[in-house]
Amino acid sequence: MQLPTLSRTDSADTARLELAGIGVRFGGIVALDDVSLQVPAGSVVGIMGPNGAGKTTLFNVICGFIRPGDGTMSLDGKPFTPVPHRLSARGVSRTLQSLGLFAGLTAVENVAAGASGRHRSPFVAGMLGLPPAAHRNRQALADASNLLDDLGIGSYAHTLPPALPYPVAKKVAMARALISDPTLLLLDEPAGGLDQTDIDDLRELIRALPQRADSVVSVMLVEHNVDLIMSVCDHIAVLDFGRVISQGAPHEIKADPVVAQAYLGDREAS
Ligand SMILES: Nc1ncnc2c1ncn2[C@@H]1O[C@H](COP(=O)(O)OP(=O)(O)O)[C@@H](O)[C@H]1O
Ligand SMILES: [Mg+2]
Repeated sequence: MQLPTLSRTDSADTARLELAGIGVRFGGIVALDDVSLQVPAGSVVGIMGPNGAGKTTLFNVICGFIRPGDGTMSLDGKPFTPVPHRLSARGVSRTLQSLGLFAGLTAVENVAAGASGRHRSPFVAGMLGLPPAAHRNRQALADASNLLDDLGIGSYAHTLPPALPYPVAKKVAMARALISDPTLLLLDEPAGGLDQTDIDDLRELIRALPQRADSVVSVMLVEHNVDLIMSVCDHIAVLDFGRVISQGAPHEIKADPVVAQAYLGDREAS
């Protein structure tokens, strides 16, 4: 795979991503309230919280789908105002809970499509007959094919998404996020719908991410599977009603009575 060419600062004292005082309101609903957290370079940071706590809103803010009413963000120490279609050029990519694969493209084409942003060689543009990019499309397809092999699903390269078993489709979505060589990867419920064997696979994959190739990859993970989040994260933030009610290492979160209380309310724990 092609390595990232962007210059980055990976010094230990500069967080890859820093959120300070983020606030989001939807009409009268406070979805996020004074949320501050850091994602150090090379770390895996988990976001937990009951339904409606603000987890998805937080990811949407980081991806630029929602502009916060309050607060600031920085990426590698520089002010960060995310714009969705420019995210991969900033080294940020995301998997969607709903996968979002193109039904009319094969698995390998779906993954190659994810290379567009970083390489500025729109594979999709090539597919639409826009000039010229043929060489880069071939490169993107070769990279995509290698990535599917790495993830152990190379035999599905030419299968269309509707025919993919769900765990394979999830890996294709992960490969599409990885092909742009992100240095910050946002995973939205990656374990959802997977059985224990697939979750164990995913655990190994997430653990290996920070040392991927020559990049220092940071990961943010929204996940309901408590075992998974506790076993892969260096740091966890717990949201409730839009506020960070607890932050710390997994063992600290496990022992925090405030966290247990948040999951014991009249809302269903999730
Ligand atoms: N687009 C929206 N319009 C209005 N309210 C929203 C919107 N998105 C989220 N909310 C509300 O904001 C709160 C946080 O939602 P969300 O971030 O989806 O929570 P979570 O992902 O933790 O379940 C909830 O009360 C939800 O109903
Ligand atoms: Mg959500």
